[in-house]
Amino acid sequence: MSEPAIKSMNLYSEVNRVYNDLRSVGINDGDAIPVEVLSQFDQYHYHGTKAVDQAIAEAGINTSSTVLDVGAGIGGPARYLAHKTGCKVVALELQEDLNQVGQDLTNRCGMAEHVQHLCGDALQEVFADDTFDAVVSWLCLYHIPDHKKLFSKLSQPLKSGGVLYAEDLFSLGEFTRSERHELETMLFGNSVHSRENYIANVEQAGFSSVQFDDQTDDWCQFVDIRIKAHVANFESYSQIHSPEMAETIKIFYDSVSGLFNGGNLGGVRVKAVKG
Ligand SMILES: C[S@@+](CC[C@H](N)C(=O)[O-])C[C@H]1O[C@@H](n2cnc3c(N)ncnc32)[C@H](O)[C@@H]1O
Repeated sequence: MSEPAIKSMNLYSEVNRVYNDLRSVGINDGDAIPVEVLSQFDQYHYHGTKAVDQAIAEAGINTSSTVLDVGAGIGGPARYLAHKTGCKVVALELQEDLNQVGQDLTNRCGMAEHVQHLCGDALQEVFADDTFDAVVSWLCLYHIPDHKKLFSKLSQPLKSGGVLYAEDLFSLGEFTRSERHELETMLFGNSVHSRENYIANVEQAGFSSVQFDDQTDDWCQFVDIRIKAHVANFESYSQIHSPEMAETIKIFYDSVSGLFNGGNLGGVRVKAVKG
């Protein structure tokens, strides 16, 4: 498989970060990993496992649920969902190296029967009708170019009455030219729509009862605290990872904080029901 364009994002250039984190707490390559320990390192979205707890409650995920996690990263949310509820999860991830790390971590957590890793593009992957009780996603959908097609693809394998639950980005106002450049180059933001267009795309794909919960104020605070904490811990981060990685992360966190504080980028939790 050729490298997807999203690899241009510096954030995704270093997939082994999680192994450095694990070694820093005494878990060496190949060791078994308690999922509770891993959960502090493998959630690539805001508010870590708390955000996943919210999804469990909102989407009614339980031991008998089958869930699709779109843009699974290294599988953090998928493993936590399965660990917390006993559900089965298909963790779909575009980037092969992230998918492989996810599979390795899942094996080492002893969770391979509950979390199935699949490398593929959400716009292309085909699942049978009526497969999933819920489709969930954290900070992935804004990467994907065609939201009309995307939400239809996500609706098709959901059971009737099944829930779509996603945390995503949207636009509050017209982006400046430099914000647009930053969005494209730093965030690989291909689909950052207004609230109205977002909801219309979801509804046109056959979803109803669309809830659009604006998280912007909270995420603004989150990203501000995150960059300050990173700067304060720069030395120890450099030791665990590398000075180059610490700098890459600093540039990324700075950029995201600047975009949120610019007032045109928003964050949202979307929930909708099929049918
Ligand atoms: C910010 S990361 C979040 C990862 C994970 N959801 C989490 O919260 O830990 C977004 C992920 O979406 C994946 N992604 C982007 N476009 C995708 C697509 N078309 N199909 C599947 N995954 C995609 C990226 O490769 C990346 O790993």
